[in-house]
Amino acid sequence: MNILVLGSGGREHTLAWKISQSFNCTQVFVAPGNAGTDLIAINVDISVNDFSAIGEFVLENEIDLVVVGPEDPLVNGIRDFFEANEKLKSINLVGPGKVGAQLEGSKDFSKIFMQKHGVPTAEAQTFSADTIDQGYTYLEGCDMPIVLKADGLAAGKGVVIAQSIEEAKDTLKSMLLDKQFGDASSKVLIEQYLDGIELSVFVLTDGKDYVVLPEAKDYKRIGEGDTGLNTGGMGAVSPVKFADKAFMDKVEEKVIKPTVDGLKADNIDYKGFIFIGLMNVGGEPYVIEYNVRMGDPETQVVIPRIQSDIVDMLLAAAEGTLGDYKLEIGEFNVAGVVLVSGGYPGSYEKGKSIQGLADVTNSLVIHAGTTQEDYEVLTNGGRVLTIIGRGDDMEAAISNAYKDVNSIKWDGMYYRKDIGKDILAPRIF
Ligand code: AMP
Ligand code: GLY
Repeated sequence: MNILVLGSGGREHTLAWKISQSFNCTQVFVAPGNAGTDLIAINVDISVNDFSAIGEFVLENEIDLVVVGPEDPLVNGIRDFFEANEKLKSINLVGPGKVGAQLEGSKDFSKIFMQKHGVPTAEAQTFSADTIDQGYTYLEGCDMPIVLKADGLAAGKGVVIAQSIEEAKDTLKSMLLDKQFGDASSKVLIEQYLDGIELSVFVLTDGKDYVVLPEAKDYKRIGEGDTGLNTGGMGAVSPVKFADKAFMDKVEEKVIKPTVDGLKADNIDYKGFIFIGLMNVGGEPYVIEYNVRMGDPETQVVIPRIQSDIVDMLLAAAEGTLGDYKLEIGEFNVAGVVLVSGGYPGSYEKGKSIQGLADVTNSLVIHAGTTQEDYEVLTNGGRVLTIIGRGDDMEAAISNAYKDVNSIKWDGMYYRKDIGKDILAPRIF
């Protein structure tokens, strides 16, 4: 089978790496890919939003399965584009259509969906420029901190946790009146703050049945001890100790089942990943957000734990036969440390030569912002590499990852030294 993965980050490198190991895979293509995908697949210079070029490539190269990595092409309707084309409509594609993708594309849509289908979530109200005065009044009655969310896609920057009423009002004004995030903030949710520990849960569904992939914890802040600016993710681990069987059973009953049943009830034909961002509040799961794709860097620690054939799984999701698929998950632990360019998530330089890749022996190196020039791998983004360690316990997985982090260098490289350490059992002696 020929398989096309769309995207260029660590998530897509990981998916392509695992897909390339399947006996069912003849050739993997990645569009546009990076220096890492170039080692295991054929990179194709097509943008993820250029649907007609993707369609032509799929037909010319006899692609059997398309796996969409990022949310953008899903929200822009890549599935609808394929389904509207006589020649493309029979091609298997993993990712929801435009309506399903609104679960991520509109926080207002997803909040209404959760409320309608009884999925536990924080209380919220939505306001627009026309109702900003009601928004200010609503804020007066809220406890602080309070969360303000731009309705649309805002490159991960559309959520502000305001500590005071003044900050909340200023944020509401800059989102709604000053159009801080353009159209994405033409509606804003004012949402109750949830105090708890976050967990990323991943589901793959064909619209009827589903499989629950391994859970993960993401480290979002740039600084150790979860301090400083938000990033795309500085590291991840799987499994997550507090997500024990009792908690995950609750997640399945209270969140996953009502979500998949809700999609069915609303006639949303959903074939793809659902990434559920959860808050564990005193042992109860609350949904913070849905994403319609896998997480990054969570994919880098989740996918290596899958031991059954990933191509069978993806194909079953696209074809609607997931009920027959038996997911096998490895008992081992996986930790991923993201190496970033100095200055990230602010401005940073690109084009730095990466040294030491050949010295990595204990772990898997996943590329994100990298490019290759004359046999040299150069930095080409903020998040550059993820180093993935595996171990019988989390301590060993973390230690294996950091051993190899020490082999890699470039001018300005930065990483957090505390990935996974908060969930290790405390040492008493
Ligand atoms: P999102 O863009 O929806 O992933 O939100 C970004 C981050 O904001 C989340 O990962 C949480 O850390 C935080 N967050 C979002 N909603 C809430 C909430 N209701 N209560 C507390 N923290 C939140
Ligand atoms: N790691 C969070 C995300 O992919 O949105």
